[in-house]
Amino acid sequence: MEVSWGCTRFVLVLAVGFIFSVAQVCNGGRTSSFVRNDDLSLDMPIDSDVFRVPPGYNAPQQVHITQGDHVGKGVIVSWITPDERGSNTVLYWAESSELKNWADGFVLTYKYFNYTSGYIHHCTITDLEFDTKYYYEVGIGNTTRQFWFRTPPEVGPDVPYTFGLIGDLGQTHDSNRTLTHYELNPAKGQTLLFVGDLSYADDYPFHDNTRWDTWGRFIERNAAYQPWIWTAGNHEIDFAPQFGEAIPFKPYTYRFHVPYKASESTTPFWYSIKRASAYIIIMSSYSAYGTNFRFSLIVVLVKQGRQILVNMV
Ligand SMILES: *[C@@H]1O[C@H](CO)[C@@H](O)[C@H](O)[C@H]1NC(C)=O
Ligand SMILES: *[C@@H]1O[C@H](CO)[C@@H](O)[C@H](O)[C@H]1NC(C)=O
Ligand SMILES: *[C@@H]1O[C@H](CO)[C@@H](O)[C@H](O)[C@H]1NC(C)=O
Repeated sequence: MEVSWGCTRFVLVLAVGFIFSVAQVCNGGRTSSFVRNDDLSLDMPIDSDVFRVPPGYNAPQQVHITQGDHVGKGVIVSWITPDERGSNTVLYWAESSELKNWADGFVLTYKYFNYTSGYIHHCTITDLEFDTKYYYEVGIGNTTRQFWFRTPPEVGPDVPYTFGLIGDLGQTHDSNRTLTHYELNPAKGQTLLFVGDLSYADDYPFHDNTRWDTWGRFIERNAAYQPWIWTAGNHEIDFAPQFGEAIPFKPYTYRFHVPYKASESTTPFWYSIKRASAYIIIMSSYSAYGTNFRFSLIVVLVKQGRQILVNMV
């Protein structure tokens, strides 16, 4: 579905889940010849092409970017190196320039039950030019990999821009169809608003965090080239004191950094950014985990006070 409000356009692709459990208890008869294929709801096997590890020693994987400041002149680049810490540096240059700049980030690791993560790098690039294509390179010193992104135009009420919307993605065959559908949409989404429920790793025994890694590799083909704006859903909570994991949102917060400080927020679950003609407010009420007030929300404000609420329960 595509929605147009003034200059800000939306391409909406929502993965559909949980239809089966509802279908079991209420049979409304058949109104169409379309029958959904059961296999599409199964996770893609671990050796699927979309989960392939990039070749080369310590090759950066799971590369993804998000907005890195309040107005779109910054980008946070994140990636994981599997074998050793490696370099925290991102080299970047404007398409029309020979001059390479660099920015240094930092590295994190975490443990979850019996899983130990790779080296998770986050690096914020700032002071970019608006509306400019940049190339960037990670993995300096060992296997380098190169990607690119385009910064948004300067913020203003009439600036045309196209956002995509995906939530509930997971890593089923249907997830791959959803992402492919977004990529092939002629409206060409320039930035993706992700409304929560990322990998569904928590569906696995002990929330098998290797399924966070497969998910990171799966989305790289899009998320390394355009910002995905994150909000957390209930599948990011990963709260499991029964096997010693009592810090909510642990894998999510280690893996996905957001520019919450740029909007003077004190937590990554609540923040706002401006991008072209939209003012985007991210609220994850799951952050008060344990209370009854639970949903995640992205509010997009566009010209003349029109607003779009995207709500995930
Ligand atoms: C973690 O524990 C599970 C369940 O006992 C086991 O299947 C899995 O192989 C273990 N993983 C590691 C990395 O030890
Ligand atoms: C990887 O890069 C680091 C830093 O440049 C270097 O010390 C190390 O020898 C490299 N390893 C390999 C196998 O190339
Ligand atoms: C996922 O989709 C991509 C692009 O459409 C395709 O190349 C790939 O083979 C698909 N993989 C799986 C496991 O469905």
